[in-house]
Parts: sequence; structure tokens; C-alpha cells
Amino acid sequence: MSRRAVLQFPFAAVLPWKILKDTKYMPTRILGIESSCDETAAAIVADGREILSSVVATQLDIHRKYGGVVPELASRAHLRKIVPVVREALANAGLSFSDIDAIGVTRGPGLVGALLVGVTYGKVLAAELRKPLVPVNHLEGHIHAVFLEAHLSKLVPEVPAVCLIVSGGHTLLYYVEARQQNGDASPRQFIYRRLGGTRDDAAGEAYDKVARLLALGYPGGPIIDQLASAGARIKDDFSLGPVKIKGSPCDFSFSGIKTAVLYYVRAHPEFAAEIAARHQALQEGRRKAADLLPLCSPRTLSLISKFQSAVVRELVERTLAAAADTGARTILVSGGVAANGELRDRFTAQAARANVNVFFPSRALSTDNAAMIAAAAYFHLSDAATSSREWDAEPNLRLA
Ligand code: KG4
Ligand code: ZN
Repeated sequence: MSRRAVLQFPFAAVLPWKILKDTKYMPTRILGIESSCDETAAAIVADGREILSSVVATQLDIHRKYGGVVPELASRAHLRKIVPVVREALANAGLSFSDIDAIGVTRGPGLVGALLVGVTYGKVLAAELRKPLVPVNHLEGHIHAVFLEAHLSKLVPEVPAVCLIVSGGHTLLYYVEARQQNGDASPRQFIYRRLGGTRDDAAGEAYDKVARLLALGYPGGPIIDQLASAGARIKDDFSLGPVKIKGSPCDFSFSGIKTAVLYYVRAHPEFAAEIAARHQALQEGRRKAADLLPLCSPRTLSLISKFQSAVVRELVERTLAAAADTGARTILVSGGVAANGELRDRFTAQAARANVNVFFPSRALSTDNAAMIAAAAYFHLSDAATSSREWDAEPNLRLA
């Protein structure tokens, strides 16, 4: 190639490409930031539905020895992690800060100190980059996690829907509708009506407390999920009937189930030796299901199985009843407990019988992540352009 040709080549190549880039459709890329509890997360999502990257730094190893989230330790870990996690999310998407169109950050609900880390970082970053900052309700994020997942299978869940958000901090039922804009139902923004919620423990909290009582480690959900099937069909004198609640059938209560397990364990001193053995195993770092299964008697496995079935029955039946009551043909299930195998199986089977479609996020999108925050932010981008930055972290933020 001649020197002249070399000099000409970049012009010939760059110019049409630049014209093409300027006129071609460019997706809106939002950086999502999540720090409401014990995961520091950042993600980049295009047009509210394509996940370009999603990074979650979990603090499980920090909180495990306390058997629950310690707020002060959570805030400090978020402070350490937020910058590297955001950088990793950008690097994984092959983007730099200048490629981002807006930032979405979890405003609440959650732990105030933990939320403040994400909100403060988001505000500073948005000011520095001169990009819009969208405050996101964490619960709305969990709802968008279902839509992100459905999008991967080219599905769009229909609304109105009944949505169950079930995690370590929440057990809530909402009626979800499309917001009317200029007379049309917008597929982009939802409005919510609270149908009910837990009157005491969240379902995930009950899992964590029962796991603690039985020395199964923290968090309790995943390990109980894995051990429960081994205890199915074991016959003993323990049973848990449906929970009776006065008032709204859309409310939940899990503390009775948890207390029944506690009283049963207290009434049977023979559980003590195996609990001590499992404590020992956990201290030695042997916390996988394969490590703990040989240390569980058939009676313990049965207890675990019956506990899980009772929790799942409450969640499935009350949600299906809410769908029947409201006439919704769609159920959305999200939050950490949505990862549960028995919950998914039972929902799928019972919803099919009721002719209702049920949608879950993948396991990774069920627990806290920032892709769901970026997705929710996208649908509020137009509000953010006109609203002020005079807002702060809100630990008790409600969806409805
Ligand atoms: O949504 P999440 O990550 O955090 C919040 O609480 O917001 O949910 C964590 C909760 C914990 O209580 C954990 O025990 C529970 O979700 N969990 C599960 C499973 N995986 C996580 N519960 C039942 N089965 C699971 N597979
Ligand atoms: Zn959550």
C-alpha cells in the first residue's frame, strides 16, 4: 500500500462510520448502583432490558459469624467496595464513564448507613459526569428483575399482575398495573397497590432464624432449600397446618411456623448432640449441604422439609388467592426467597392449574443486584430530568 493510500484510508473509513454512528439508533445505557443491605452491586443495562454487565460483591463472609447482617459492618464494606465494583461493571461492559447516559441508585428501603454509601456516591458521580441521577425504590427494582429475566426468553409478562416480593427483609403482595399516559396504558411505568404483607417476620428471615436454631449456617434459605428434599416423606409426630390470620387473606405470618419449630426442638433434647456437631462443622468452614447432610438425623431433615413446605404453602396459596380475587392472569415472584426450588415448582404447578402465568427471575436476579436497579431507573428517566436532586436515602421508602 502506498503512503498516500495509508493516509487516505482512515478518512475513508472513519467518516462514513461517524455519520452512521450519529444517525444510527444508540441505546440508553444506565449505570445501576445498589447498596441497600449486604450486597454492593453495580450493573449496566441498555434500554432497561439488555444487561451489559452485572457485578455483585457479597458481604456474606463478613456477616456469617453474627448470623445476620450487622448494619455498621455493612456500611463499611460498601465504602470499601463501591468504587471497584462500579469500575468492574464498566470494564465488563467494555465501557467508560463517558458512555453512560444516566445513573440509577437505590434510594430505599434498606439500612440507612448502607443506602447512604450508594446514594452519596451516585450523587457525586452524577454531578461530576453531568448525567441525570434517578432515585430507585429497591422493591420496584425486584419487580423489574422479573421483566429482565422474561426479556431473555423474549417474553413480556402481561399486566395487570399480582407481584410477590419475598426476601430477608420483605414479604409483600402488590397489584401492578400499567400507568396511563395520554390515555394509553404505558408499558414502561407501573403503578402499585399494596394488597398485603407480613405481620411479623419476612419469609427469608424465618428461614434464617430456623437455620440458626438448627445450626445450618447463614443465610438459611439456600441450605434449607438443598436439604429439604432429603426429609420429604419421613414420618414423625411433627406437623404444621395452614396459618390462620384474622383480617386480610393477603397478609402473611411466619413467626408461628418458626416458633413451632423452636418448641419442637426444645421438647426433644436428643437434637442437642447433632446441633453441636453442626456448630463444630460450621466453625471449621464445612457449611455446604454435602458437609451438613450426614450430620442431620432423619428427624431434623423431616423438620426442615415440613418447615419449608409450610412457608411455601403460605406464599403460593395467598398469592394465588390474590390473583383470583383481583382477576390478574399474571403472577410475578421476586426477592431472595424466589430462588427456592420448592416455591418455584409449587407456584408453577398450581398457577398452571389456575390458568395463570407465573414469572420468576433467575436465581442471580432474585437476590439483590444492580441490574434490576438500572432497569427500573430507565423507566423513570424522564421524571429524573425534571425533578430536583434534593432527596436523600430513605430507609422506610414505600412502593404504595
Ligand atoms: O433479596 P435478598 O438477597 O436480600 C434481602 O433480604 O433484601 O434475600 C435474602 C434472603 C435471605 O433471607 C435468604 O435466606 C433467602 O433470601 N434465600 C432463600 C434462598 N436463597 C436466598 N430462601 C429460600 N430458598 C432459597 N433458595
Ligand atoms: Zn432485596
